[in-house]
Amino acid sequence: MENRMEMPRLGFIGFGEVTYYMMKGLRREGAGPLSVLTRRAGPSSRVKAASVGAVITESWEDLFANSDVVFSAVRGHVALETAEKAAAYIRRGQIYADLNNAVPAVKRTASALISAKGAAFVDVGLMGLPIQHEHKALMYVSGAAAADFRRRMDPFGMNIRLAPGEAGQAAKIKALVNIYMKCLQGVCLELAISARRAGVELSDLERLITDPLAGIPREKDVGFWITRGALLAERKEAEMHDAVDMFTTMQIDPVMLTAAVERLKRAADFQLQNEFDPSALYTDYEKIISRMFDIGAEKGIDVR
Ligand SMILES: NC(=O)c1ccc[n+]([C@@H]2O[C@H](COP(=O)([O-])OP(=O)(O)OC[C@H]3O[C@@H](n4cnc5c(N)ncnc54)[C@H](OP(=O)(O)O)[C@@H]3O)[C@@H](O)[C@H]2O)c1
Repeated sequence: MENRMEMPRLGFIGFGEVTYYMMKGLRREGAGPLSVLTRRAGPSSRVKAASVGAVITESWEDLFANSDVVFSAVRGHVALETAEKAAAYIRRGQIYADLNNAVPAVKRTASALISAKGAAFVDVGLMGLPIQHEHKALMYVSGAAAADFRRRMDPFGMNIRLAPGEAGQAAKIKALVNIYMKCLQGVCLELAISARRAGVELSDLERLITDPLAGIPREKDVGFWITRGALLAERKEAEMHDAVDMFTTMQIDPVMLTAAVERLKRAADFQLQNEFDPSALYTDYEKIISRMFDIGAEKGIDVR
């Protein structure tokens, strides 16, 4: 059984949604003391922190003096400057876990800054939502210290998976997942405002969107849409031009639809429908994409 004394002291930089919900879950697992560095150290932040057994600090020095593992939970665009500041205080033996949504190059640079101080850097790709799963939200971790981080966090029952490779690897996986997640958010917002302008209830469209996927395992949604997009690209692209015009005249800027037409146009160049049956199974998408790269090499078409 884990000894209570072996639990690392945890610190957080940035007191946003992720920090709050992670601390809430960690506290329940017996974590303590918890420290949080925030630029907004007013009474309401203190009360909120106290509600999850955490102590607010405005001092970088105090944060690092009181923590063995420090999570950076700010925003992607300030991840690097946050790591730069942290590097001034971090010491050998401490772990800096950067869970910001930042690109691999940022994580690699941050890793070099922290490592130069003899401390350990962990690139955390936060895949799950702490607001739903608190500290058990799925995290991919990479970098030389990733396995040690997972071991140190063991007592808290977290959901940490190793992404083999250097710092930046977890961020790369996160960035790829984000292509889907963020575009889907953009598509759904575009659908909603277009439906409103068209005078159609979004609720009347919901089933029309999910029905084609009935009976397909959820994780194969991607394979289904790749197969449909790659093999029917030519026809779909031609038809969707008119739809772009239609929504434009309805005072919608169909930005997502326009991008989809461009992506389908590029896919159509590979004429994949000549090599695969349009009824190809969604499980065959790997073969379709491999063939796209082969045709690209044979015919000098850039896959990009
Ligand atoms: N929310 C999620 O479920 C989720 C999932 C995956 C990844 N992430 C990533 O996790 C990180 C934290 O997300 P979050 O949802 O907690 O964000 P958030 O609620 O917006 O909070 C981020 C915190 O960052 C600090 N911050 C914001 N702008 C800053 C600036 N210019 N300089 C310094 N600090 C600044 C603020 O802390 P103070 O005001 O307290 O100083 C703020 O509370 C982000 O990088 C996000 O992309 C979040």
